[in-house]
Amino acid sequence: MVDQKQIYYGADYNPEQWSQETIKEDMRLMREAGVNYVSINIFGWVNIQPNESTFDFTFLDWLMDLLYENNIAIDLANGTASPPAWLVKKYPEMMPMTIHGNRLVHGSRQHYCPTSPIYRDYARRLSEAVAKRYSQHPGVVMWHINNEYTCHIHECYCPNCRASFQNWLEKKYQTIEALNTAWSTKFWSQTYQEWDEIFLPEEMPTFKNPCQQLDYRRFISDMNLEIYQIEKKAIQTFSSNIPFMTNLMGLHKYVDGFKWASEMDVVSWNAYPNPFESLPYPQFLANDLMRSLKKKPFLIMEQAPSAVNWRQVNGAKKPGQMRLWSYEALAHGSDGMMFFQWRQSQGGAEKFHSAIVPHGDPHTSRTFRECAALGNELKQLNGIVGSRFVADIAIVFDWENWWALELDAKPNANIRYIHQMRALYAALRALNITVDFIHPSESLDGYPLVIAYNLYSASEEFGNKVKEFVANGGTFLTNFFSGIVNENDQVYLGGYPGLFKEVLGITVEEFQPLKPEIQQQVHFKNKFYENRRWEELIHLQGATPLATFTSDFLKDSPAITKHRFGKGLAYYLGTELEQEGLTDLLNDIFSDAKLTKVAESYLQDNSELSVTVRQGPTHIFLFLLNHTNDSQQVQFLSEGTALLSKRKVCELTIAPMEVEIIKFAKG
Ligand code: GAL
Repeated sequence: MVDQKQIYYGADYNPEQWSQETIKEDMRLMREAGVNYVSINIFGWVNIQPNESTFDFTFLDWLMDLLYENNIAIDLANGTASPPAWLVKKYPEMMPMTIHGNRLVHGSRQHYCPTSPIYRDYARRLSEAVAKRYSQHPGVVMWHINNEYTCHIHECYCPNCRASFQNWLEKKYQTIEALNTAWSTKFWSQTYQEWDEIFLPEEMPTFKNPCQQLDYRRFISDMNLEIYQIEKKAIQTFSSNIPFMTNLMGLHKYVDGFKWASEMDVVSWNAYPNPFESLPYPQFLANDLMRSLKKKPFLIMEQAPSAVNWRQVNGAKKPGQMRLWSYEALAHGSDGMMFFQWRQSQGGAEKFHSAIVPHGDPHTSRTFRECAALGNELKQLNGIVGSRFVADIAIVFDWENWWALELDAKPNANIRYIHQMRALYAALRALNITVDFIHPSESLDGYPLVIAYNLYSASEEFGNKVKEFVANGGTFLTNFFSGIVNENDQVYLGGYPGLFKEVLGITVEEFQPLKPEIQQQVHFKNKFYENRRWEELIHLQGATPLATFTSDFLKDSPAITKHRFGKGLAYYLGTELEQEGLTDLLNDIFSDAKLTKVAESYLQDNSELSVTVRQGPTHIFLFLLNHTNDSQQVQFLSEGTALLSKRKVCELTIAPMEVEIIKFAKG
């Protein structure tokens, strides 16, 4: 397998838009900017297959040789992301259909139905042709399959999808009775006798069957994964030693990241934090999530050098922001930083999206200068490549739960998985507690604290695993509306939260969701903290209360509880607490359960720096990032080498938006 030896640094490169002179100029500029990696041919289909019977590789041959001569590693896309007009004209039935029965037309991108046999067949043939031509090219270091699956098309309601859904269901459930049981079809007389009676969750009079909707989400993720597998298999016929990946989208709802990652050699994702936010936690969280999919280094495959063009108002990254956020990704396990895109397009839908090379002169461009400075700076950090992030605790993350939690007809439609996760993540970041995300099927061993946040839907197997984990001395935290239903969206009977009530030592009799504008207060540790969105009537069954509600008929009843179960502790938070309260709770749990942070072995943790640890075979890399507006001082427990300022240090002052990486020999 091609081995990564340097931090990949580069961009999506779309030279089909440019003359040979411009492309040659690009090679000079790439060298100047420290670029060593580009992704090409992502939207190249019509260039290499201008009609059904012609493959023309003249341009790509020339380009690939040129990149190779210039020592730029090639992330070669198979080019299937945007089917050509001639194909759509010949087979309009390959286009996706909206819920209202309209077929989409050519003129944008990602215009294919996820089950279309036509698209799959032509994508396979194109993949084969590209792989046959280039699998032995010495410049190729990565296969880039398709692009951002389901970014635009995450639903299709065409007749072919309906038939495929029926087949998928039959494969999953084997008998129609099993489907009827899983889907609770005795409710509203929905019982099926034949597979072909089943629709997609199309237009219906009112609430659709929840498990039908849930299975549709699973189906869409699986159908896109099938396309990925078809493309990958076609390439594998000709290529055996080049890693495979597709670019994921971080906190993107429609692709089950854990399932997909098992089909990839490397996880990569496209990160587009909003420059108007100084601490874009969803993207910070996504770095941890994407790394966690394979528990190994990942790549940032795209980020904007400055502004994007697809928000209502597209803020530019401020001086130093792109660099700081790039280090944020490296600090959390990335081994590469790529941009969209290398050269800003003159025409087309993305001409106002920033690029490394702007419309004007690159040498008078702040963006180009900052990108070039980073590219050259990263050259001295190749030693971190391959080093593993070491996390303090684990948070359970499950795409299927995300889908189930956000289905309609719930006690409170305003409970959003990512919103809750973000709040939790922000509170943990305030304490410098670092996290891995784990899928419910993974082992909990090795993590002193496991948090299952708004894990509404989970299997009995997971419930048992949590019990065993806590009984053996682990610490567990969960919150409201967790452990409520099984994988078929059926409630665990006998009192909420069915799955966790024993380990938590509580039952919840009744939910009391709050209107969005309402803020109430929770009494916790002699202080009053604001809470929102959710309250509930909790009965103690062995747990002790740590905090109480203060309003209405829940006044003085438990809001936060703690339960000793076997050798461990299980905590429960029955509301959405303001960040300061959540941070206080997490801090208490940490000291109560006598937990420690990995970074504490290297420094006195009393600054507001963001600190993470990556571990290589012989060295530890301590990343220190200053996201605050003040200088921060830090003292180390032993002398280390500061890699960016190239000196030995025992203490340091780090200015706002600045970064340092300290290398320690492994003790
Ligand atoms: C990504 C996509 C790129 C480009 C970029 C703009 O979603 O993969 O091709 O469109 O967004 O931000």
